Amino acid sequence: MPDPLTDLIANNRRWVAGVNASDPTFFQKLAQQQRPQYMWIGCCDSRVPANEIIGLLPGQVFVHRNVGNVVQANDLNCMSAVQYAVEVLGIPHLIVCGHYNCGAVNASLDDLAHGLIDYWIWPIKEIQRRNPWVMKLPRERIGNAMGELNVLEQVANLAECKVLRRAWSENRAVDLTGWIYDVGDGRLRTLLVRLDRDSDVRALVAKAGEEIHARLGA
Ligand code: CO
Repeated sequence: MPDPLTDLIANNRRWVAGVNASDPTFFQKLAQQQRPQYMWIGCCDSRVPANEIIGLLPGQVFVHRNVGNVVQANDLNCMSAVQYAVEVLGIPHLIVCGHYNCGAVNASLDDLAHGLIDYWIWPIKEIQRRNPWVMKLPRERIGNAMGELNVLEQVANLAECKVLRRAWSENRAVDLTGWIYDVGDGRLRTLLVRLDRDSDVRALVAKAGEEIHARLGA
C-alpha cells in the first residue's frame, strides 16, 4: 500500500523550491527571528487556515487554534500562547476568528451527549443560555448567529485574561479584533475591531451582540 504521506513530503520540497526561487534568503532570515505583528486565535477546522486566509507568509502570524476558537483563563495552552505572543514577541494585534458551520458550535446546539468535547464546548452552550433570542431565529441562521456570538465571547474573555490586563495596565499597545469567516465564500467579516486599553470592552461587546441580533434576526 502506498504511503499516504509521501505526497506531503513531495509537496514540501516543491514549496521550499518555490520560496527559494522568489527569495533565496527567506529561510535564512526567518531562522534568525520571528517578528509577527498578528496573533490568530482560530478553530482547528481544516477549512480555516490562518496564513492562507489573510495572505501572510511564515513568520508573519502567530497562530493558536483549538476546537471552536475558545479562550478560557484556565486553558494553559491558549494562555501560554497569548502570554508568549504579548510578552515575548510583543505582538500588537490579536485576532479571534470564528467561522460559520463550526462543528463545535453546532455540537453546542443539540442536547446529545458527544463525550469529552461536551466539557470543552460548555462555555459555548452558555452563550446560548444568555442569548435566548438566538434559538428563536430561523433554523438556518442559528449556527451563524452562535458562531458570531462565540467570537464576541472569546474576545471578551481575552480582554479579561491576566496577560492582557497586565499589558494594558503597563500601557502597552495591544489590541483585540473579532472576525467571523464564511467557509462558503472565503470572506472575513469584522465583528469587533481593535479594542484596546481605552475601550469599554463590555459595552462594545454588548453593542456588537445587538448588531448581530438586528442583522440575523431581521
Ligand atoms: Co470550528
